[in-house]
Amino acid sequence: MRGGIKSEPEEDIAVDPKLHVTTVYGDDWQSETTSIGSSIYRGLEENGRRYQTLSHKEYLIPSDEKQFETYEAGHLVALVMDSDQENPLFRSPVRNPKHILDLGTGQGNWAIDVADMFPEATVRGVDLFPPPVTWMPPNCILEVDNIAEDWTWNEPQDLIHMRIMIGAFDDQEWNRVYQQCYNNLRPGGWLEQLEASPYIECDDDSLPEDNILRTWGPALSDCGKRAGRPLETIDMMQDAFRKAGFVDVHEKEYKWPIGPWARDQKYKEAGTVNFQHWMSGMEGWAMWLLCKFGAPEPWTQEEVIVYVAKLRAELKNPKFHIYERARRVWARKPFPEEVAAREASVVIKAEPE
Ligand SMILES: C[S@@+](CC[C@H](N)C(=O)[O-])C[C@H]1O[C@@H](n2cnc3c(N)ncnc32)[C@H](O)[C@@H]1O
Repeated sequence: MRGGIKSEPEEDIAVDPKLHVTTVYGDDWQSETTSIGSSIYRGLEENGRRYQTLSHKEYLIPSDEKQFETYEAGHLVALVMDSDQENPLFRSPVRNPKHILDLGTGQGNWAIDVADMFPEATVRGVDLFPPPVTWMPPNCILEVDNIAEDWTWNEPQDLIHMRIMIGAFDDQEWNRVYQQCYNNLRPGGWLEQLEASPYIECDDDSLPEDNILRTWGPALSDCGKRAGRPLETIDMMQDAFRKAGFVDVHEKEYKWPIGPWARDQKYKEAGTVNFQHWMSGMEGWAMWLLCKFGAPEPWTQEEVIVYVAKLRAELKNPKFHIYERARRVWARKPFPEEVAAREASVVIKAEPE
C-alpha cells in the first residue's frame, strides 16, 4: 500500500546476456503497408502530418496512417505486458458488464477486443475522428465526439476506459473528464486508465549520460508545460481519480522495455513491439509540440525530422537497456451508502468535541 493505493510495482528487468542483435532491427518497420483509405478523414495538414481540428484547440498527435500503425503497436505492447493476466485488456473486477465506454479510442483496438470478450455488452469507443476500420463486432459502436465537451450518453456505464491520452487536455479539462466519468458510471462501476511516460529510462549505466535519447523526455515534457498540457499524466492520475470521488484505487506499475534486450520472453516480445511503437511514433509525438513550443524557439519541420532520425539511430543500439515507465490505475465509483458514510465522517471530523 502506498498512500492508500493498492500498488503493484514492476520488478527490475533482467538483461539477456546472449543477445547479439543484428537482424532484429531490420528496416521492415518502415514499410508503409497500412492500406487504410484516407478519404474518410478530414483534418488539418501541417508539417507533413494530418491533425484533427477542434473547435477551440488541436490535439497534439496526428491522426493519419503513420500514427495508426503506432496505435496498433501500442495496443500490442499493453497486451504483451499483461499476457500473464487472465484478462490482459483491463484489471477492473467487472462482471457481466452491459455498458462499456472507451474514451479516445483511436482506431478502436481496445474497444473491439473488449466487445469480442463480452458479446452481451455494448462497447462504445469515442474519438475525434471516424474510425479507420472496415469491420467491427455488432456490439461495438465507434462514435465521433469531443470528450472535453458535455457528454450525452444516457446509459450508466459499468466500465470507462482510457489509454495513452497523455497530452490531450489541460488540467481543468482533465478534471472535467474525470468528473464526467464519475457521473456517467453506475454506483460500483469502474474507471481504468493506462498511461506511459515520455521519458526514456535506464537502470544500469548502459545508456551514456550524454546520449541524445536522454534529451527526448525533458524536451517533450517542457513543450507540454509551455503548451499548457502537462505530459506527466502517469503521475497525476491517482490523485485526479480520488479528487473526482473514486474509491478503492489500485495501480500497477510497468517498465515497458524498448528493444529486445530483456532476458525473459514476455519482456523481450514487449520490447520488440515497443521498439516498433517508438520507431513509428516518435515523429508524430514530437512534431506539433516542437514546431509550436520547442526551445529556445519553435523548431522547423526539418529540424524535427533530423532530431527524430538521430533518436531512431540510437534506439537501434541493442546495448542500451532502455524502457519507459507505464502505469495502470483503476478505481470504483462508491455506492450511495459509502458516499453518505464518507460525508458523515467528514462532518464528524470537522466538528471535534
Ligand atoms: C494516442 S491515441 C490512443 C488511442 C487509443 N486509446 C489506444 O490506446 O490505442 C489518443 C486518442 O485520443 C483521441 N482524443 C484526443 N483528444 C480527444 C477528445 N477531446 N475527444 C475525443 N478523443 C480525443 C485522439 O484523437 C487519439 O485517437
